Amino acid sequence: MSDLPLTFAKVSYAVGATPILRDVDLVVRAGAPTFIIGPNGSGKSTLLRLAMGLIAPTSGAIDWNGSRDPAPRRRAIVFQHPVLLRRSVAANLIYALDQAGVEKSKQDRRCTQLLDLVGLIDLASRPARRLSGGERQKLAFARALARSPELLILDEPTASLDPSATLALEQLIAKAARDGIKILIASHDLGQVRRLAGEIVFLHRGRVLESAAMKDFFEQPRTAQASAFLRGDLISEE
Ligand SMILES: Nc1ncnc2c1ncn2[C@@H]1O[C@H](COP(=O)(O)OP(=O)(O)OP(=O)(O)O)[C@@H](O)[C@H]1O
Ligand SMILES: [Mg+2]
Repeated sequence: MSDLPLTFAKVSYAVGATPILRDVDLVVRAGAPTFIIGPNGSGKSTLLRLAMGLIAPTSGAIDWNGSRDPAPRRRAIVFQHPVLLRRSVAANLIYALDQAGVEKSKQDRRCTQLLDLVGLIDLASRPARRLSGGERQKLAFARALARSPELLILDEPTASLDPSATLALEQLIAKAARDGIKILIASHDLGQVRRLAGEIVFLHRGRVLESAAMKDFFEQPRTAQASAFLRGDLISEE
C-alpha cells in the first residue's frame, strides 16, 4: 500500500481562534524533493506535522493515496531536534527496526547497513545522547530509513549544522531521492533548495502563495512576498 500521492484539499489548521494554516491545497507526488519554504512562523512545521498525520486539520481534508486514515503506512518524519533514546547508537536503530516490524534475524544486518550508509559505523556503541548535532541528525535519518519509507518528511534537518555536516546530510537526502524515496522538506537554506529541490511550495502567513518548479520560482517569483523573501535571504547570505 502506498502513501502517495499525498493530497491536501482546502486544509486549514487553527489553535483556538488563531489560524495557523489557511485553505492549503497541495498534491505531493513521487519525484524530486518538494521543499516547503517561507519566513519563520509561516506554518512550515505545522504543514509537515499534518502531512505526517500527527495532527488533524481543523477543516478540509488530507488523504494518502485516497485513504484518510492517518496511521502511517510508508512514511517517516525527522524533526529538527530529534529525540534519541538513552542507549547506544546501534540500540537506537535496532529499536526502530523492531518497531518497523523487521524480523529479529535481519535486524543486525540492516542496522550495520544503515550505520554504514550514514557514516556512523565507528560510533555504533557510543551513547546516542553524546553525539554531536550532525551525528544526531545522521542517526535520526537512519532511524527514519529503518521504516523503509516511501515518503520521508524532514523539518529543517541541517538548520544547526556546519557546512561539512550539511553537505554530508544533503548527500544522504540526494541518495534517498535517487533511490525513489519522496522527500518533503522544510528548509531555510536557499543554497540547499537550489541544490536539491524539484518543486517549491512557498508559505506566507499560513497560506500557500506559490507552488512551482524550483527554477521557475527562483527566476520568476509571482508574488511580491516571494520576491522579498528571496531578496532578503540572498542579501543576508552575503
Ligand atoms: N500548538 C500551537 N499553539 C499556538 N500556536 C502555534 C501552535 N503551533 C504553531 N503555532 C504558531 O503557528 C505559527 C506557525 O508555526 P510553525 O512552527 O508551523 O512555523 P514554521 O514556519 O515552521 O516556523 P520556523 O521557520 O520558525 O520553524 C507560529 O506563529 C506558531 O507560533
Ligand atoms: Mg518550523
